[in-house]
Amino acid sequence: MKILLTGGAGYIGSHVLNKLGEQEHDIVVLDNLSTGRKESILYGKHVNFSIEESKRLKELFSNENFDVVFHFAGSIVVPESVTNPVMYYSNNTVNSLSIIEMCVEFGVKNLIFSSTAAIYGDSTPGGVCDENSIISPLNPYGHSKYMTELMLESVSQAHDFNYVALRYFNVAGANIDLKIGQSTPNATHLIKMACECATGKRASMQIFGNDYATEDGTCIRDYIHVDDLASAHVLALDYLVNKKDSVSLNCGYGRGFSVFEVIDAVKRVSGVNFETRQVGRRAGDAEKLISKADKIRELLGWQPKHDELDVIVSTALEWEKILASK
Ligand SMILES: NC(=O)c1ccc[n+]([C@@H]2O[C@H](COP(=O)([O-])OP(=O)(O)OC[C@H]3O[C@@H](n4cnc5c(N)ncnc54)[C@H](O)[C@@H]3O)[C@@H](O)[C@H]2O)c1
Repeated sequence: MKILLTGGAGYIGSHVLNKLGEQEHDIVVLDNLSTGRKESILYGKHVNFSIEESKRLKELFSNENFDVVFHFAGSIVVPESVTNPVMYYSNNTVNSLSIIEMCVEFGVKNLIFSSTAAIYGDSTPGGVCDENSIISPLNPYGHSKYMTELMLESVSQAHDFNYVALRYFNVAGANIDLKIGQSTPNATHLIKMACECATGKRASMQIFGNDYATEDGTCIRDYIHVDDLASAHVLALDYLVNKKDSVSLNCGYGRGFSVFEVIDAVKRVSGVNFETRQVGRRAGDAEKLISKADKIRELLGWQPKHDELDVIVSTALEWEKILASK
């Protein structure tokens, strides 16, 4: 298939690109390298510009006859979205609309979108969300992503166009063969930061809030291995092409770990007792977010292979060691 993959130099996009590349699709990666790295693009042809450059975007769509778009490009730091909402609505919502508009104009019928568990916020008692749980984002990042889901829904109803929106929970770890991993500069992801502490890149890390209504007082998240998430994208492509149906699906394992549990796991797996500092809550954080994970298994036949916290942590750690040795 002829594929456009936006954000393919980034963390998740590069792992999906790695899986799609192994299947010998014809792939164009659109990435402006704002947070991605060129070395992470293991397959396909790279075009380096921003989605907001509408003339170049239109040229790209008119020159290539895409069958499907995987849309990963976006801005992803929740606290930054609280202080700079315009940037988030612009890069996540407005730029997504540009991509959707190009799909309509050039007859691209399939799109797979990186959505997020952040759209659920705190409104589900117990924090275990299925796809019908109340949508109530706590921050502009979550709003910017949900607005894109709404646009996709409207456009799919009006045009010969289908989408799968994958609502990722907390993505972590590195490719199981360590071909790629998370190289995002200044990443704010818990497991990545803890591994940076374990390898000496960071002196210490902060823990935001210990007064949540959870067993140990810290936030709980459903951590999913990036290669399992990448497999879900490949299955989503099959689904779109064969079923010609639109759907939003949670991507998580259905179990959660607290911040303390994750930090303990990184200390145990690495054997390094690094320093953590307890600070107050961070704006925009939900207390507990866990996926109800039945629908994606039923609909796509998704079967996770790397769903142990220690596997997630050890691959993240090994990747951090590779980065440190460069
Ligand atoms: N990492 C997570 O845990 C997580 C969770 C839920 C959802 N998501 C979503 O997954 C997607 C990918 O996240 P990631 O962790 O790989 O982030 P990332 O920052 O590593 O990757 C984003 C990529 O998009 C590129 N990009 C950004 N804006 C662009 C633009 N305007 N034009 C062209 N390229 C642009 C960046 O250079 C980068 O390579 C995002 O849409 C994010 O919202 C991520």
